[in-house]
Amino acid sequence: MITKNLLLKINSIEKKYYIGKNEINALKNVSFELDKGEFIVVMGRSGSGKTTLLNILGGLDSPTGGKIFMNGKEVRDYHKEPYATEYRREKIGFVFQSYNLLKALTVEENVALPLILKNEKPLKIKERTAEILELVGLSKWHNHRSVELSGGQQQRVAVARALITSPAILLADEPTGNLDSQTSEEILQLIVNMKNKLNQSIVLVTHDPKVAAYGDRVLFFNDGEIVNEYRNQQDISINDNITMIINKFQSLIRGE
Ligand SMILES: Nc1ncnc2c1ncn2[C@@H]1O[C@H](COP(=O)(O)OP(=O)(O)OP(=O)(O)O)[C@@H](O)[C@H]1O
Ligand SMILES: [Mg+2]
Repeated sequence: MITKNLLLKINSIEKKYYIGKNEINALKNVSFELDKGEFIVVMGRSGSGKTTLLNILGGLDSPTGGKIFMNGKEVRDYHKEPYATEYRREKIGFVFQSYNLLKALTVEENVALPLILKNEKPLKIKERTAEILELVGLSKWHNHRSVELSGGQQQRVAVARALITSPAILLADEPTGNLDSQTSEEILQLIVNMKNKLNQSIVLVTHDPKVAAYGDRVLFFNDGEIVNEYRNQQDISINDNITMIINKFQSLIRGE
C-alpha cells in the first residue's frame, strides 16, 4: 500500500568504498521513509555515513546496493548522466556547511543561478528571485556581493538558492556548523518556516542536539547503520526533547 504522503522510500541502501584492497562499508542496509513535508534529522559520530547518505540522496554519489523510490516510483540511474543533472536540478536543493556561494556574484545572482542554469525566462527568474529573497528576509541585500554578508546572511542566501526551484527535498549537511549559537537558531528557524510555509521535505545532518530538536524525527547513525530513532514530542518542551536526544546520542557513543 502506498501511503498518501510518502515522498521518498529508501530501501536497504548500501555504499562500499574501496581504497586499495580495503573495503569501507560507509552505509549498510539503510532503510527509512520520508513523508511530504517531513523534516528528518540525521545524527551520528564523525565517519558514521551521514554525508555519504546525503550525497546519495542528492545524486552526487551512487549507492552500491538498494533502491530508492520517489512518489512510489523507483528512481533508477538518477545518479548517472544524463539523468543526474536533471535529477539534481528538479528534485534536490542542497545546503552545505560552507555556504558555497560564488564570490563574484551578487546575492540576487547567486540565488537566481539554478533558474539561469535551467534556462528559465528572464522575467520569471526576476520575479521568482524577488519572491524567494523576500521569504528569507534578504530583499534589501539583493544587490550586495555575497562576501559583504555575515555568515548567517550567506547561509540564508544558500537556503534561498536551494529552494528557488521548489525542490522535492532540501538536503542540508551541517548547515549551522560554521555559525554561533544565536545565528544557528535563526537559520534553523528559517528552515522550520520553510517547512511550514512550503510544506518542504527536509533531510538535515547535524552534530548539535539543539538543532536536532527542531526536526520531526531524528535518525541516529553508527558505522553506516541506523541504530536508533527518536520522534520529537510535541507535548513536551524543546529543552526536554533536547535532553532526550542527548541521552540517545550518548548511549550510542557508549555503544549501548
Ligand atoms: N570518497 C570516499 N572514498 C573512500 N572512503 C570514503 C569516501 N567518502 C567517505 N568515505 C568513508 O566513508 C565513511 C563515512 O564517511 P562520511 O563522510 O559519510 O561520514 P560523516 O558521518 O559525514 O562524518 P563527519 O561527521 O565527519 O562529516 C568514512 O569511513 C569515510 O572515511
Ligand atoms: Mg559529513
